[in-house]
Amino acid sequence: MAFTIAIDGPAAAGKGTISRAVADHFGFAHLDTGLLYRAVGARTLDGTDPIAAARALVAADLDAGALRGQAVADAASKVAVIADVRAALVDFQRAFALRSGGAVVDGRDIGTVICPEAEAKLFITASPEVRAERRHAELLERGQGATLDAVLAEIHARDERDMSRAEAPLRPAPDAVMIDTSAMSIAEAVAAATEAVEQRMRAR
Ligand code: DC
Repeated sequence: MAFTIAIDGPAAAGKGTISRAVADHFGFAHLDTGLLYRAVGARTLDGTDPIAAARALVAADLDAGALRGQAVADAASKVAVIADVRAALVDFQRAFALRSGGAVVDGRDIGTVICPEAEAKLFITASPEVRAERRHAELLERGQGATLDAVLAEIHARDERDMSRAEAPLRPAPDAVMIDTSAMSIAEAVAAATEAVEQRMRAR
């Protein structure tokens, strides 16, 4: 059975945590598509052409640990506006989404562009302030200093770039279930997401 769960939303809204937990819950495979853009962004930092990097991308390049830093996130957001970069990454994402056994695919355009036919679509949001606080706490935990104001400014800049680009902008699919995690604990957000997916499964 191929059952695709598309999970979209802005940075630091809880999408990654929710996606991993939902994949675990249903025993589905999980793809964080941000890693594709991060891997391409990382290659451009050493001078590689972004379109060539996207065309040459292989699964082995998607090492989450190596792709976490701020410079890579910023480079990812910049290469993500290039239509030919996005086009080069479509087949990999669709093939993953349609694998048998079920898949959770998270990103910005999964429910709108990559998998408009996904059986369940979630759009995870939280206020910019709450997202900045979460990201700030995460950075401190990793021993990376940054002021809360700087993190908030970075979140606003990345939202603006992700939402205003012409190519596959960040926006909810019309049939996505909206989940605002601003006032939710992780457990509450995961429960809300799981319940929304179960409803879609029952409705089939
Ligand atoms: O989710 P993330 O922070 O790892 O994403 C990094 C960048 O990649 C982000 O600025 C937006 C872009 N991205 C995208 O355009 N489409 C996706 N499906 C996933 C990420």
